[in-house]
Amino acid sequence: MADERGESYFVVRGPVEPGDKRGRELGFPTANIALRNQSGELGDGVWAGWAERSDGTRVAAAVSVGRRPTYYGADGYRLVEAYLLDFTGDLYGETLTVWLGRHLRDQKAYGSAEELIEALAVDVEAARDWVANHPAAALPALGTPPPDGEVRRLG
Ligand SMILES: Cc1cc2nc3c(=O)[nH]c(=O)nc-3n(C[C@H](O)[C@H](O)[C@H](O)COP(=O)(O)O)c2cc1C
Repeated sequence: MADERGESYFVVRGPVEPGDKRGRELGFPTANIALRNQSGELGDGVWAGWAERSDGTRVAAAVSVGRRPTYYGADGYRLVEAYLLDFTGDLYGETLTVWLGRHLRDQKAYGSAEELIEALAVDVEAARDWVANHPAAALPALGTPPPDGEVRRLG
């Protein structure tokens, strides 16, 4: 099921788990969702998308899918980390549904936290550009939700 422009999305849903809390120190706190399948068709990368809260409100997001190679090399476990734009609040334990709409770049191991922070700021601007042209109301419907942590392709 694509949106009216025929664009496709990946969708992941699951409870928000406590992360390492490093995101807060970096200035980009993230809502972390565990992935059931550590390989799968959704590759590692950074995406622009939307996150839907359990009350149905949708918040624009810059989303990382991967192993945080800056901190864990290639050995980390894969997870989805959504940085919600212009949002403050505690999401732990809440079920989030995340639509991944535009692949922005691959994951990268940065030499320092400062370099990662610079890259995140660029990602956030790219995500803002994308959501401005892809309003939440135009997202394809999820239908019956997939099991927690399972990736569904829409479109
Ligand atoms: C938009 C976005 C892009 C990211 N890109 C990378 C990346 O390229 N390399 C990397 O090691 N981590 C990346 N991360 C993950 C951060 O390393 C991670 O969010 C941070 O270490 C905080 O982890 P925590 O949520 O467990 O506290 C990205 C996170 C976001 C939100």
